[in-house]
Amino acid sequence: MATEEMLSERDLLAALDSPDWPVALRAVAVADKLIRGCIVGDPGIEKVVAKLVTLANHSKWEIRRAVANAAANTPHPSFEAVLAKLILDDNSRVRQAAEHAALRRRDSRHASTLGKQHEDRINSILDDIEARFGVRGRDAVKRASEQIANTFARELYHEIIKLLSPLAASADRLRAQLSSTNTPANVLAAEAERIRRRVAQLSAILNAMRAYTAQPVLDYQPEVLREVIEEGVSLALESDPDKSPRPSVEIKGPLNVIVDIARARLVQALTNVLLNAIESYQDAHSLKPIEVSADLQGALVTITVKDSGCGMSGEAQRDALTLFATNKPNGTGFGLPLATKIIESEHGGRLSIESVKGLGTIVRMTIPQHRQVDSA
Ligand SMILES: Nc1ncnc2c1ncn2[C@@H]1O[C@H](COP(=O)(O)OP(=O)(O)O)[C@@H](O)[C@H]1O
Ligand SMILES: [Mg+2]
Repeated sequence: MATEEMLSERDLLAALDSPDWPVALRAVAVADKLIRGCIVGDPGIEKVVAKLVTLANHSKWEIRRAVANAAANTPHPSFEAVLAKLILDDNSRVRQAAEHAALRRRDSRHASTLGKQHEDRINSILDDIEARFGVRGRDAVKRASEQIANTFARELYHEIIKLLSPLAASADRLRAQLSSTNTPANVLAAEAERIRRRVAQLSAILNAMRAYTAQPVLDYQPEVLREVIEEGVSLALESDPDKSPRPSVEIKGPLNVIVDIARARLVQALTNVLLNAIESYQDAHSLKPIEVSADLQGALVTITVKDSGCGMSGEAQRDALTLFATNKPNGTGFGLPLATKIIESEHGGRLSIESVKGLGTIVRMTIPQHRQVDSA
């Protein structure tokens, strides 16, 4: 007997027209597979699509729902009107399928536009490099960036799997505990809490990664240094979730200096550095204040954050700037890399760290006071 998948196009069209509705329903499932990811305008599928559009008016809700499900898997524009109608269907299962399909179609449209924009941006950077350094320059940059992307993906995989494996183990334990009638409620609650914390950590990593990879439009404006520093300090003090005693922050230096910066980004860099400074007092006995100072030397402005927290060994200092490197239970390891990216790539400056284990850390962020117009 022929399988459904082996129906010829003519048989399929006939089955879609069948007065016997279960036959028509099976035919919709076959048509769904056929049009999945189809190229719009392919004459082979246009007739099938037209039949599916008609079947959206079928008296059986099962058929209308199957049409909505098929619409989720194809970009064919004929289904826009179909879904607009099915979203208002009398049957709730049909409505649900139509809503789901409309969302899927919107998401995949969005993803393909983003993909295109991304590709255009990379090509324009590579074209620029080729104009300056020739084809070999273009190739070298392309190879290097592919390496970086690979490393990033690999590290992200390890970070996520590190959290997912215990999550799966917790879920298995919870299931076993639930099937035994005498597991005390507090044991179940503790397991559920472990799961919740791991999920929270996973979303913290994904959010940090999103912030790190975002490419916001940068609007450089002259700003008063004092205001920028004060904003960073108050954000850091507000967003530190730890309620234990913490150091105060002292601000000093020639703060009336004007600097050309992308303000929100610089505030973000400063906040990240300050949060680390605050967190470095976790196990410290002294609460000596954190000092934030500003200095203007020639055309360079330096913001320095000095803490008297736990400090770092030489190795920890080198690690601190790499993605995912963290020694905190709820850390993500994205704070310093993002601060470095903002200071160095976005402001043409330099972020450096000096630290002594047990004594404290100094982070210096130096940027040009005025933006250089790139004349190359
Ligand atoms: N001021 C500091 N004092 C001590 N250690 C620090 C300081 N700043 C950064 N570190 C170390 O560098 C690591 C990476 O920092 P960061 O990139 O902000 O990620 P996170 O804060 O999420 O761990 C921290 O986990 C910590 O070990
Ligand atoms: Mg941090």
